[in-house]
Amino acid sequence: MKVTVKIQRFNPEQDSAPYWKEYSIDAEPTDRVLDGLLHIKNTIDGTLTIRSSCAHGICGSDAMRINGVNRLACKSLFKDVGTTVTVEPIAGLPVIKDLVVDMEPFMEHYRAVLPFFINDDPAPQTERLQSHEDHQRFDESTKCILCACCTTSCPSFWANEDYLGPAAIVQAHRFIFDSRDHGTAQRLEILSDPDGVWRCRTIFNCTDACPREIKVTQVIGEVKKEILYSKL
Ligand code: SF4
Ligand code: F3S
Ligand code: FES
Repeated sequence: MKVTVKIQRFNPEQDSAPYWKEYSIDAEPTDRVLDGLLHIKNTIDGTLTIRSSCAHGICGSDAMRINGVNRLACKSLFKDVGTTVTVEPIAGLPVIKDLVVDMEPFMEHYRAVLPFFINDDPAPQTERLQSHEDHQRFDESTKCILCACCTTSCPSFWANEDYLGPAAIVQAHRFIFDSRDHGTAQRLEILSDPDGVWRCRTIFNCTDACPREIKVTQVIGEVKKEILYSKL
């Protein structure tokens, strides 16, 4: 099939504003948008800048706006997105060049929620055991690959870049509901901040955008409830 790929280009070192550039390529219906972008870069226009790594929906590095919706380019097939495709960088983070954004503000929010295991008890001889039921409390949030599709589709984040954002809350959820972790009080305090969970207005864009099909809004709701219960 013939596909027209319309890409938003922007090099802040040269361009005064972003602009659109169209490329016409041959593709199989089962080719991924990432295949198309790499083909353009390798054979038509080497100046195109994209970021990708695993090409299998695991590393989270090729999140972009495809036909106006946040997706991973490596998980989007041309047969699903059509023969005229628009591709833009994810919104709300500074563009470094073309489809590559600066992930540092996103990572700063991630680090803010203490996304690591906190437990100062002496290490046991074997692993710290946990029941299946206890694991199920946070199993959903372990699927996150930190792609930023959720946070950069959230209008609350667009309106206020200090909002921690859904991805950081999902990462906090992974530890808050882990029965082996002792950092819950610290994390709930951080998430109670005016720029924490209460900035979420239950808009659901995050849930729609998540390529791992995490129920992001529900996860955020569980964290909100936990904060309320902790204050009773
Ligand atoms: Fe990506 Fe989903 Fe994690 Fe958000 S919750 S960063 S959309 S994997
Ligand atoms: Fe934003 Fe998702 Fe809440 S889109 S407002 S974080 S439900
Ligand atoms: Fe790794 Fe797409 S390249 S998730």
